[in-house]
Amino acid sequence: MYRVTQGSNAQRAAVHDWLAGLDALPPETADRVVTAWVTSWTSSEWAELGEIPFSAKAPGYPLAKHVNEVTRAGQALIPRAEADWGVALDPAIILPILILHDVDKPLLAARDAEGKVVKSSLAGRMPHGVIGAMLLRELGFDQRVVETVATHATDAPFHNDSAEAHVLHYADLFAADHALRAQGLVPFYRR
Ligand SMILES: [Fe+2]
Ligand SMILES: [Fe+2]
Repeated sequence: MYRVTQGSNAQRAAVHDWLAGLDALPPETADRVVTAWVTSWTSSEWAELGEIPFSAKAPGYPLAKHVNEVTRAGQALIPRAEADWGVALDPAIILPILILHDVDKPLLAARDAEGKVVKSSLAGRMPHGVIGAMLLRELGFDQRVVETVATHATDAPFHNDSAEAHVLHYADLFAADHALRAQGLVPFYRR
């Protein structure tokens, strides 16, 4: 499924240079975030981070762009949620949730013999979100990060009842609908 690894210095630098939001995390947490992405990437069949697709349905949109769009949308929503809902969102929890929500996606897409992006065989055996949650649990992330990532997918049986899950959902759908529209596909908000 995946093999936890620190990766090479070059692989860690590639992930570090790509991910938005790392600078707002304590260095030790940022390091584990990088390890999570390096593990998923190097356990996948994608040689370059930039070729990993958002999904088999929207293969022309890079996952790398989607992830940063979600992080930045979430960072814009956090102060609004805090002011309007009267909640406090711990950056040590909400930021890893945003940055890592799709950490298992490199493992869920593959190329077939013709080079077409298809679902990987793992995608037919394990749900999106659950694989990422297992990896994050293994890397020692907080239970709130683990359970929110495990249940965040639009087709998950339920979404957890927390302000963090609420913020992730709308940041994710805001960005996912942009990816779908950019590919000429029907966004969730028009279904
Ligand atoms: Fe997702
Ligand atoms: Fe997402």
